[in-house]
Amino acid sequence: MSLTDQLIAIRRQLHEYPEVAHEEFKTSESIRGWLADAGIRILDYGLKTGVIAEVGGSQAGPVIALRADIDALPIEEETGLEFASKIPGRMHACGHDFHTASVLGAAYLLKQRETELAGRVRFIFQPAEEKAEGAEIVLQSGALDGVSAIFGMHNKPDLPVGTVGVRPGPLMAAADGFKIEVAGLGTHAAVPENGNDPIVAASHIVTALQSVVSRNVGSLKSAVVSVTRFHSGTAWNVIPDRAVLDGTIRTFEQEVRTGVLARFEEVVHGVAAAFGAKAELTWIKGPPAVHNDPGLEELTVLAAKNAGLQVVQTDPSPAGEDFAYYQKQIPGFFVFVGTSGSREWHHPAFDLDEGALQLSAKLMAEWAGLAITHFSPVVAGEG
Ligand code: NI
Repeated sequence: MSLTDQLIAIRRQLHEYPEVAHEEFKTSESIRGWLADAGIRILDYGLKTGVIAEVGGSQAGPVIALRADIDALPIEEETGLEFASKIPGRMHACGHDFHTASVLGAAYLLKQRETELAGRVRFIFQPAEEKAEGAEIVLQSGALDGVSAIFGMHNKPDLPVGTVGVRPGPLMAAADGFKIEVAGLGTHAAVPENGNDPIVAASHIVTALQSVVSRNVGSLKSAVVSVTRFHSGTAWNVIPDRAVLDGTIRTFEQEVRTGVLARFEEVVHGVAAAFGAKAELTWIKGPPAVHNDPGLEELTVLAAKNAGLQVVQTDPSPAGEDFAYYQKQIPGFFVFVGTSGSREWHHPAFDLDEGALQLSAKLMAEWAGLAITHFSPVVAGEG
């Protein structure tokens, strides 16, 4: 079987049996099976789900990590594909099946040239990306200790097959969530002066929050503040005790993120106080922004070319991606691989063109090979 056919078969099997974050038991078992069949070493870092593997024998050379996320989403699939999900309410609607097959493909390609590698390549099949919890679990396991650099990719439906979107600096947003509980004092709707209306206070908070981006973020920077839920009250003639607001904040730079979060807190508490109400703010901390190390751009472009891919400009995505946690610890680079999809990520009819699989596997193998050279220590006294 050709590599392409092999990877398509792998991707389809993963697609038929999607598992959500922290429940990727069968997925992990399948990955271990495919690695073992190819004679690739599996390393034990005590992960509950997820798999770490390695090729290369040199203990002296650098270790380079290639990462795939392996989890699916709680979505009912509506693609009508012959290999559509067999698990009700579960779907690989973000293409993590594609990512997993790509990194397996890279492992197969690198295994074939294992003896030439002047270092080692570690494969990170990471669980729980959709909950933004898996990267931290992998980091805590020690699987990235001593690793010189990490590379990863996401499929991109709006880029055509054969292209790869490369961008140094910020690529995907820091995705923070919030919950605000505004506590007032309930009363009869006819005598508001006897209570403290949390709906009025919360409404002013929503309005005032619109100024955080427009008045506190510079015109050349970007941020999003969205209040997405406003819950209060039970009846037309009752002023309730409290109102609850939820939403999200997206930023691309740490400085902007810190500033926006600080200003957000001031506005929430200040406006609540002005109305004599009390606001309790809970942060749902998301991953920081995916920030590509500019020092790795050149080898990324070269890897793409060697893999037969065309490098294209890409806009940053306001979606979050927990690959960002790795980049806080070690140099890393993340790209978008074109998959000519007709739907956005997380859509029940999400699909991709499998023609991109083999290209993506080649890209990752090339990346690792070039990075080993890039990070190899220069031998003293040479030349
Ligand atoms: Ni994804």
